[in-house]
Amino acid sequence: MVEPAGGWKASPANINHARTVMNAVADSGALYRDGLGMIASENIVSPMVQRIVSSDLHGRYAEGLPYKRYYQGCGDFDTIEELGINLAKELFNVPFANIQSTSGTVSNIAALKALSKPGDNITAVSTADGGHISHARMGAVGLRDLNLSTYPWDEERMEPDIDASAELIREIQPKVALFGQSVFLFPTPLKELADAAHEVGSTVMYDGAHVLGLIAGGCFQDPLHEGADIMTGSSHKTFPGPQGGFILSSSSDEKFQRRLNNAVFPGTCSSYHLHHVAGKVVALAEFMEYGEELSRNTVSNAQAFGSALAAEGFDVLAESRGYTASHQVLTRHGELDSGAGAKAADLLEQAGIITNMNMLPGDTKAMTPSGLRLGVQELTRVGMGTDEMTDVARFYARVLLNGEDPKTVKQDVNDFKSNYQIIRYCFNEENQNGYPL
Ligand SMILES: Cc1ncc(COP(=O)(O)O)c(C=O)c1O
Repeated sequence: MVEPAGGWKASPANINHARTVMNAVADSGALYRDGLGMIASENIVSPMVQRIVSSDLHGRYAEGLPYKRYYQGCGDFDTIEELGINLAKELFNVPFANIQSTSGTVSNIAALKALSKPGDNITAVSTADGGHISHARMGAVGLRDLNLSTYPWDEERMEPDIDASAELIREIQPKVALFGQSVFLFPTPLKELADAAHEVGSTVMYDGAHVLGLIAGGCFQDPLHEGADIMTGSSHKTFPGPQGGFILSSSSDEKFQRRLNNAVFPGTCSSYHLHHVAGKVVALAEFMEYGEELSRNTVSNAQAFGSALAAEGFDVLAESRGYTASHQVLTRHGELDSGAGAKAADLLEQAGIITNMNMLPGDTKAMTPSGLRLGVQELTRVGMGTDEMTDVARFYARVLLNGEDPKTVKQDVNDFKSNYQIIRYCFNEENQNGYPL
């Protein structure tokens, strides 16, 4: 840890607290700098976004909307937020964007507040099939006290069973038909399901948290032009910005748009983390320049990684559909509910590869699942391509199939990663270190 010039003027106990935190921050940074970050919900931000996130804006307030504030001092931030709203509308080609929400979950809480009342029906993907906790009674759906029915699932295709789900929607007549998942390999068959939902007067909501960057880059599906009325999302997964959320809508109805804005402020947020909003706006500008290529390469890397893992002998899900059409790949490591996914994730971490265990279809216990969910978006961001996906799959095989000592593999992982330290797809990329500690 950097020692302050002039020494510490504080008690040893409190100095130690600060040291503990600073050392852990540096160690966590080093773990990702030297290793392979492959958690599908994570990413790294560009140096310009990093700078903005640690700017003076982090301590400021702006409630309301641009030019309609409750505080003085917001003039400069008005310029930033207005620009961000316009860039988001342009990028997603929609008439409405709110860029205030502080996460994907907050976006979902706000959207459900705007779209439903306690006691209403909602349909969504079950958490066992890959839906997010905010789509469940334990999360935002329960917070709004909605009655949840989950879509019948097509395990082969890893998507809602179209006919059975349309039938469920017609029967339940939900206030909100919610689509999208955390385990998200393939686009949702939205056109068919949105038709059924609109027929019975439902609002169609699509949670694009994971795949927002792929959608913006034109490489997944275009929910707001395939029948979704509203799309929520995180700004920090495949969309490579700082942590935060988006709410977008295809509706030009001003009353509806007001309801969405009001559900964020004052409905869900007071201050909405201005430094992150400003970071999102620069990330939007960077995405307009480089996002299409980034998204295309992310998906081709995920497909190459799925094939390379299968060639090594891993059980990779959805072989018949080419393994994936997103940034994610799913692998099965043992019997259902056996905890084989947890064990694999632990061994990989010992080798410097950071992943997460995940329930796969048929698993019933979140803490002892059989699978891993792997994401290639961060490796893509530091310049890896399809050839490197073969190298990465080899590391997996050495640890999990060949039984090599993870510590030996870690040395090779660290050497390999030392060649991928510059963050790509951002302004002035040649000068940028992706992993400042
Ligand atoms: C589908 C889905 N929605 C919402 C979220 C929550 O996003 P956040 O972590 O930004 O709150 C996630 C998180 O991974 C997710 O997978």
